[in-house]
Amino acid sequence: MKTRPLGQTSVEVSVLCLGAMYFGTRTDEETSRQLLDQYLEAGGTFIDTANIYAHWIPGGNAGESEALLGRWMKERRNRQQLFLASKIGFQYPGVERGLKAEQIEAECDKSLKRLGVETIDLYYAHVDDRNTPLEETLAAFDRLVQAGKVRFIGASNYLAWRLEKAGWVSQVNHWAKFCCIQQRYTYLRVKHGASTDPQVVVNDDLLDFCRSEGLTLLAYSALLGGAYTRPDRPVPEVYLGPDSDARLAVLKRVTEETGATPNQVILAWMMRGQPSILPLIAASTPAQLQENIEALQLQLSAKQLEQLTTAGI
Ligand SMILES: NC(=O)c1ccc[n+]([C@@H]2O[C@H](COP(=O)([O-])OP(=O)(O)OC[C@H]3O[C@@H](n4cnc5c(N)ncnc54)[C@H](OP(=O)(O)O)[C@@H]3O)[C@@H](O)[C@H]2O)c1
Repeated sequence: MKTRPLGQTSVEVSVLCLGAMYFGTRTDEETSRQLLDQYLEAGGTFIDTANIYAHWIPGGNAGESEALLGRWMKERRNRQQLFLASKIGFQYPGVERGLKAEQIEAECDKSLKRLGVETIDLYYAHVDDRNTPLEETLAAFDRLVQAGKVRFIGASNYLAWRLEKAGWVSQVNHWAKFCCIQQRYTYLRVKHGASTDPQVVVNDDLLDFCRSEGLTLLAYSALLGGAYTRPDRPVPEVYLGPDSDARLAVLKRVTEETGATPNQVILAWMMRGQPSILPLIAASTPAQLQENIEALQLQLSAKQLEQLTTAGI
């Protein structure tokens, strides 16, 4: 699998990052391991999890995804091959939402233990915390980097102006800087004024900010849970705006022209976008994962990319 630089860091990461959110809860142990092996066999090494995954699934307490990854890495002895991302900031039973220093430090230690690793390659602030000074949050993240518990830091669910502010706080204090932003992003655009709180959707401001500052954008919920292809998954109401019919019509046309599936067209379109966009792919069956990985083979023409981007605008 091809790689791309992660923001302004010196490392390269797989162009498709595997989301492990439901591994160990909604997706059973055996299937999760099968999907992890399949991703690795396709050459992927970038895996995304979080401390809270997936406490909202019946029977889940949080930490199941990290613990499953820990067991799998131990058995496969493949930690050194991987680039592991985890996150801190959302609440789960017994832990409040927030990015106070003590929360960051305590949750990082728990994640390291569950994963059974000494270092997390990329550690995200999972959601902005406007009640804690950025100085406190970023100093805590920097201490983790200095201690070797974390290699790089990223942000998720932040507005562009908050990232700009965070960048300055890191710079003047010579602390580690957020190198990437993980945000909700798909082909359809959210209706003006619609809320996806607490998740934050990519907007033009963020795209411009990432382009100008060299931040990589990691796109989550890229396939809207399968809504582009599955009659059992209607497109969420917030995505049905004045431009959605036009965008879906162009998506259909490009799908017919290329013989690829809508999911593959969307992933291929994203990977060719500017700034550098890396989609998170998730799946609960090997067939879904295969379809998503095969997006790597799809070459869209400049005209198709342009038509997809400008549809409905
Ligand atoms: N930073 C954040 O706040 C945040 C938020 C959400 C997610 N994430 C990360 O992003 C990853 C992906 O998020 P997501 O689950 O929302 O992504 P998604 O791609 O929108 O949805 C994944 C689901 O879509 C269905 N699917 C995937 N590929 C398919 C295919 N080829 N054909 C038909 N259906 C398909 C499957 O549903 P079924 O399993 O039901 O079949 C799969 O579980 C997560 O694992 C997590 O790591 C981050």
